[in-house]
Amino acid sequence: MITRRIRDFGIYSELLPHDLSIAKIKEMHPKGIIFSGGPNSVYDDGALKVDPEIFKLGIPILGICYGMQLMSYDLGGKVEQAENKEYGRANITVEDPDSALFKGLPSKQYVWMSHGDLVTKAPNGFEVAASSKNCPIAAIANPDKKFYGIQFHAEVRNSEYGLDILKHFAFDVCGADANWTMNDFIDMKVDDIRKEVGDKKVILGLSGGVDSSVTATLLHKAIGDQLTAIFVDHGMLRKDEGDQVMQALNKDLGVNIIRVNAQKRFLDKLKGVTDPEQKRKIIGKEFIEVFNEEAKKLKDVNFLAQGTLYTDVIESGTNTAQTIKSHHNVGGLPKDMHFKLIEPLRKLFKDEVRELGERLGIPHDLVWRQPFPGPGLGIRVLGEVTEDKLKIVRDSDAILREEIKKAGLQEKIWQYFTVLPGIRSVGVMGDGRTYDYTIGIRAVTSIDGMTADFAQIPWDVLGHISDRIVNEVDNVNRVVYDVTSKPPSTIEWE
Ligand code: XMP
Repeated sequence: MITRRIRDFGIYSELLPHDLSIAKIKEMHPKGIIFSGGPNSVYDDGALKVDPEIFKLGIPILGICYGMQLMSYDLGGKVEQAENKEYGRANITVEDPDSALFKGLPSKQYVWMSHGDLVTKAPNGFEVAASSKNCPIAAIANPDKKFYGIQFHAEVRNSEYGLDILKHFAFDVCGADANWTMNDFIDMKVDDIRKEVGDKKVILGLSGGVDSSVTATLLHKAIGDQLTAIFVDHGMLRKDEGDQVMQALNKDLGVNIIRVNAQKRFLDKLKGVTDPEQKRKIIGKEFIEVFNEEAKKLKDVNFLAQGTLYTDVIESGTNTAQTIKSHHNVGGLPKDMHFKLIEPLRKLFKDEVRELGERLGIPHDLVWRQPFPGPGLGIRVLGEVTEDKLKIVRDSDAILREEIKKAGLQEKIWQYFTVLPGIRSVGVMGDGRTYDYTIGIRAVTSIDGMTADFAQIPWDVLGHISDRIVNEVDNVNRVVYDVTSKPPSTIEWE
């Protein structure tokens, strides 16, 4: 979040591990360094530390929460366990209104605290810049050395003036300029890619999703037809999605794409399979196989391009790494294929990738598509996947998307789609009895997909969507709306 906030100011920033060497830091010529928060206590065995030489570099440092405690501890201050742990909103008083971080800001302000330890004595040369009832040393400053510390989390929205405080550090203390733009990024990357690839060839596995599409387009801009993208169309994309990707990337932008229409192959493998995890594994494995078969037909390829994003890099590159989705076109590559990896988006966040896509000429609607799972509609047909069932879910999903857009709700709802639970129920249509499928509508609001609330779509919009689905999609006689949040449900049904 801190990295994100600084980039939002137009300043390039990276998240790096605490044990980065001093030599590496010098090489990068940073204008400033921020120590983040963390779950340890600075005096614990195995607490995450920095090389103390970092304090001799003459580079401004801001410590946030654990970062402030670390700086205080390393520079001779005192850190102790707080009598009362403090989680949530707190009111701080600015003790020194001229202190660089708080200049021009109200002397009383709400901040977000989340800590069990606190600094009980600031190191020599530091003044106390802010305090709160439970935390007498809530901010410290050493203007001579340009070292600052805040016990609260300026990066979260609940800190009233958090962004101003970060801006003061970045612009006023560090003297950074707001010069990080996507156009600079494109020029820089195109140059890098050309240097790295030379006259060699690159392949890329295109899934139809945003990340691989943007990677393909960026590479195409840099090396033209030296790139071949292999578009494995598993037949479980949304209505017309495969054609739209081909139109935008291949026909309009000229990216060299081999489209493999592999629906039958995937359906054969999925025959009789009802377990969701099993289905995911089969789809992932088959994707690699189709990709490999096509890749082997190409000669003299040296590089494999991937749409890895910064969030993947961050999560897989830390000591406290969490499990992330596997990148199915790397792990499964046969040993006899020796590709060098090229990942031009590995420093970008998702919304930066979308902006990049638009600047590269990919249509707005394609670049801003809502999240879509790799296994596609294969996990929205619950139980066994068949061609008929895929058609039902694809057609109903298209109606839902059309109507949400017409109602002007598409920016307000984070993700929305239909599912086919596979249950049949009795209905009456015309004069006859029907015994047909039910469609479930799932629509959620969310920030990052980790938690979600069901979206409160107006009844008349829902009613209209239901009418259209039942009238226009064969074999559906009932529509239900999912009113559960995540947790306890997940967003997808499988
Ligand atoms: P759940 O269902 O776990 O979904 O609440 C959270 C978000 O992740 C998407 N999702 C996936 N994305 N591969 C992906 O790339 C997958 O296998 C996958 N499964 C779920 C889901 O659409 C939602 O946005």
